[in-house]
Amino acid sequence: LSYSPSDVDFRPITNFTTATIKTFDSGNTGMTEYFHRFAKKNHKTGLSPCTVIVPLGAHAPILGYVTISNSTVEKGEPPAPQLSFFPNYPIPVTLIGRLAIHKSYHGMGLGRFLLMHVFFTSAQAVRGLRLGSVGIITDAIDQNAVDFYEKYGFQMLPGQKEFPQRLFIPNAVIFDAIEG
Ligand SMILES: CC(C)(COP(=O)(O)OP(=O)(O)OC[C@H]1O[C@@H](n2cnc3c(N)ncnc32)[C@H](O)[C@@H]1OP(=O)(O)O)[C@@H](O)C(=O)NCCC(=O)NCCS
Repeated sequence: LSYSPSDVDFRPITNFTTATIKTFDSGNTGMTEYFHRFAKKNHKTGLSPCTVIVPLGAHAPILGYVTISNSTVEKGEPPAPQLSFFPNYPIPVTLIGRLAIHKSYHGMGLGRFLLMHVFFTSAQAVRGLRLGSVGIITDAIDQNAVDFYEKYGFQMLPGQKEFPQRLFIPNAVIFDAIEG
């Protein structure tokens, strides 16, 4: 079966039973295990809200998920050029904790669609709710993930000692992407 972005719905993970959650397999052990064991718990406490995509009007199969949180980023040592004009204290950003598509549904445009959902969510928080966030960061798990994120305007953020694969996309690029 094949699904395009126009065939899917977004739902909070709390709508799903553990049995349904355990049918999800992204092909990456860390991404899959997190979803099976911790995603619902961390959603409920507010640590890391988890949005799931499923076929329109259905509860299965789970096609993908994403977790988003507030976070901060340091300018880095030496300072990352993308952050050089911000002050020397932790800078508010939106964090994509985890993003994955079920391995049977890779390559259908669903990963891109989930990422655009994050762009809208972050932009809405900044513009509508007026919460501070200068862009989105994520820590890529491998080179494939780096390639995926770079396609949409993320750039490596140098100088982040603890986070060597950290990527950043500034609000201006996010706003352009969602406004076309
Ligand atoms: C990375 C991932 C989310 C992509 O999802 P997907 O639904 O297969 O991607 P899409 O079909 O939306 O593809 C979007 C674009 O990214 C490209 N792309 C997809 N997977 C890619 C990969 N592994 N490496 C490089 N580019 C990739 C596609 O070619 C497509 O580009 P195009 O529009 O120019 O053709 C998915 O492969 C996945 O869940 N992988 C395992 C977990 C993971 O790596 N998560 C991301 C890291 S946090």
